[in-house]
Amino acid sequence: MGIVYNTDSQTFHLQGKSSSYIMQLMKSKYLAHVHWGRGVRDSNLGSLLAIRRRCSFSPSTDPDDLMISLDTMPQEFPTYGGSDYRVPAYQVQLDNGTTVSELIYESHRIYAGKPQLEGLPATYVEEDSEAESLDIVLVDETIGLKAILTYTVFRDFDAVTRSVRFVNGGDRPIKLLRALSLGIDFARADFDLLHLSGAWARERHIERRPLATGGSVIESRRGSSGHSLNPFMALLSKATDEDHGDAYGFSLVYSGSFVMQAEVDPYSTTRVVMGINSFDFSWLLEPGQAFQTPEAVLVYSAEGIGGMSRTYHKLYRTRLCRGEFRDRQRPILINNWEATYFNFKADTIEKLAKVGKELGLELLVLDDGWFGKRDDDTSSLGDWFVDRNKLPEGMPDLANRVNQQGLEFGLWFEPEMVSPDSELYRAHPDWCLHVPNRRRTEGRKQLILDYSRKDVRDYIVTVMTEILASSPIAYVKWDMNRNMTEIGSALLSPERQRETAHRYMLGLYEVMERMTSAFPQVLFESCSGGGGRFDPGMLYYMPQTWTSDNTDAVERLKIQYGTSIVYPISSMGAHVSAVPNHQVHRTTPLDMRGDVAMSGNLGYELDLTLMTEEEKEAVKRQVALYRELRPLIQFGEFYRLSSPFQGVDAAWMFVSADRKEALVAYFQVLGEANAPLKKLLLKGLEAGSNYQVFDAYAPEELLESLGGDALMHIGLKLPIWKGDFRSRLYRLKVEE
Ligand code: DGJ
Repeated sequence: MGIVYNTDSQTFHLQGKSSSYIMQLMKSKYLAHVHWGRGVRDSNLGSLLAIRRRCSFSPSTDPDDLMISLDTMPQEFPTYGGSDYRVPAYQVQLDNGTTVSELIYESHRIYAGKPQLEGLPATYVEEDSEAESLDIVLVDETIGLKAILTYTVFRDFDAVTRSVRFVNGGDRPIKLLRALSLGIDFARADFDLLHLSGAWARERHIERRPLATGGSVIESRRGSSGHSLNPFMALLSKATDEDHGDAYGFSLVYSGSFVMQAEVDPYSTTRVVMGINSFDFSWLLEPGQAFQTPEAVLVYSAEGIGGMSRTYHKLYRTRLCRGEFRDRQRPILINNWEATYFNFKADTIEKLAKVGKELGLELLVLDDGWFGKRDDDTSSLGDWFVDRNKLPEGMPDLANRVNQQGLEFGLWFEPEMVSPDSELYRAHPDWCLHVPNRRRTEGRKQLILDYSRKDVRDYIVTVMTEILASSPIAYVKWDMNRNMTEIGSALLSPERQRETAHRYMLGLYEVMERMTSAFPQVLFESCSGGGGRFDPGMLYYMPQTWTSDNTDAVERLKIQYGTSIVYPISSMGAHVSAVPNHQVHRTTPLDMRGDVAMSGNLGYELDLTLMTEEEKEAVKRQVALYRELRPLIQFGEFYRLSSPFQGVDAAWMFVSADRKEALVAYFQVLGEANAPLKKLLLKGLEAGSNYQVFDAYAPEELLESLGGDALMHIGLKLPIWKGDFRSRLYRLKVEE
C-alpha cells in the first residue's frame, strides 16, 4: 500500500492491497486518468496514457499542441465550458452570470492516514498506518476557485475513497451549480452496469444491463437516497459473474438526493461522475468560504461481484460503522409493530416481553404510537411526550417492567417529521420545509421538519435527550416515512434556497452525531418505511437498518440478496412475522421465515402471545441456534451461491475468518415436477480441509464428510423436496 509520485513522468500511483489507481499530469496542467484496476508494478507508468488528435469538433486548449483536447483526454475532475462536451463533475456561475471555468494543477501533498470530512459521514482509519492519502490542489486562477481532490488508499482493502473541497479564494462570490465528488474516465466502454432498484416493500432488486453510447443515470431527486435507486452502481466486464472478472463498485456516503452517471462517448470511453444531485441544487460561496462534497467509495475486485461485495462488507462494517455496537453482537428483538400496530397499552407490551423472554429474545422494541395522541398515523409527530392513555405510568415505568421481564427496552422515533395535527406544528408552523404561498404537500399526513434550522435541530435534540435520559433505553429505531416536497426554508435568503436539501442533510447528520455520541450505549437502527434510506451515510451513525417493511420470507430473499451486493449482513434487520403475511398475504412455514430472518440481524415482529405451543418450541429452537451462529452470521464472510432472481431457489453461505466453520442457507421457493438433481457449489472453504456437514437443527446426525475442494468443485447434494417454501440450514465444521 502506498502513494508514489514520480516527478519525471508526473504520475501518481495509488497502490491498494492488490489494485492500482494511476493518474498523470498532462503538460503539467491537466490531471488525466490513466488506470484503475488490477495492481501493476511501479515502473514506466508515464507512457501508458494514450491520446490522439481528433477533429476540430473536439477543440484543443493548446494552439501549439492539437493533441490536447479536454473533450478526448481521460480526466479526473472534468469541467464545463472549455471544450469538454461530456458530463462535467462541477460547474460554477460567477456574479457576471457566466458559467465557464477550468481547473489546472497547482500542487499536491501525500500523507499517512485519512482525513475526516467536515460535517459529513465518511470511512475512517484507526491508525495512520492503515491508509495513505493524497490531496491534489487544482485552481482556476481567473476566479480564484480551488478544488482540493482528496484520495485515500487502504492497506487492507482494494478501495479508493475520493472527495472534493471547493474553496473560493477569489474576491467575488462564486455559485456552485454542480459539485460532484468525482469524475473518472475509463478508456473502454464494454461494460455492463449493475445497480439496485426498487420501491417501498421491494427494495434493492438487482438490475444489470449493457452500457450503450450516451448516458445511464442512477439518481434520486427525493431529498433522500430513497427506495427506488440506491446510491450505488458497478461497472462490470462483460464476462464478470459472481466469482470472476472485473467489478468496479461506486458507492456514495450520502443520504440525500444523489446522482451517478456513466456516459459512453463516440470513442468508446466511459465517464463516471457521482455526487450530490445537481438537480435543484446550488451553493453560494462567498470569498473565503468552502464546500465539502460527500465521499465516494470505489472498490475494485478481480473476483467478480462477490469479491466486490465482500470488500464493501468489511470496509463498511469495520471502517464506516462506528461506536460500541460496531463489533458487538446485535440483540435478538421483538418489535410490536406488526403485533399490535397502534393498538397497545403498557400491559400488552409487558406481556409480549414476558413471552419473548420465555422464547429467549433479548430486546423489546416499542414501535410507533406511544406519544401524543397517536392512535393512527394521522397525528402527533413532533409531540414527543408519552401518551398517558396508553402508558399511564410513563416511559420509565414501562421500560422497567420490560427490563424486569428480562429484556432490554427499545423505542421508536420519527424525529424528522411533524404532523400538521400536533402541538409542535400549531406552535411553529414555519418549522417545516415549505415554500411561501404554496400548498404544503403531505405524505402519510405529515410534513418534514426543516433540519437546516438550528432552532429546530436543538429542539429535537432536547426532547429526544429528555426521553432517552429518563428511562433505561438500550435501542432506538430512527424512522423517516416520506420524501421532500416544496423544498424551501423560511430562514434562507433567496439566493440560498437551492441549498435547503443539502443543508437539511448536514443538519440531520449533526443531530445524529449529537444523539449517538450522547448515548453511546444505545444501539441506533435507521429506518425509512423499511429500507428507504439504506445507505452508507446512515451506517456511519447507525450500524444497522430495517431492511424492508416487507417481511414475507419469499420476497425477503430478493431484498436481502440485493442488499448484500453492498451492505454487510450485520447492517440488515430481518424479522419473522405472522402469516398470512401482512404485505403479500402469503403463507410460508415458520421454519422458512426463521431461516430467512436468521440470515440477517434476527428479530420477531408478531404477537407472540397468540403462538401455539408448537410454534413457541420452534421459535425457541431458532433463537437458540441463532445465538450459537450469531458471530458467524453477523461478522463472517458472506458468499452468494444461488440467486433468487433466477430460477426457483436461492442459497447463500457464511464462512468464519479462519474458514473452520460455515453455515449454508438453502431455500426452495417453488417445488418442480420431475426436477433435476441439484448440487450447490460452496465457496470460501479451505480446499485442503475436510468438513463435516450437519443439518444445523440436527447436529447429532452427520450428513456428509467431504473435502473443502469437493464441496466447492463438485458440490453439496441438495434434498429432493416436494412442495413450496422449503429451506434448510447446513452447518459445516472442519474435522479436527
Ligand atoms: C415504517 C417502518 O418501516 C415500520 O417498521 C414501522 O416502524 C412504521 N413505520 C411505524 O409507523
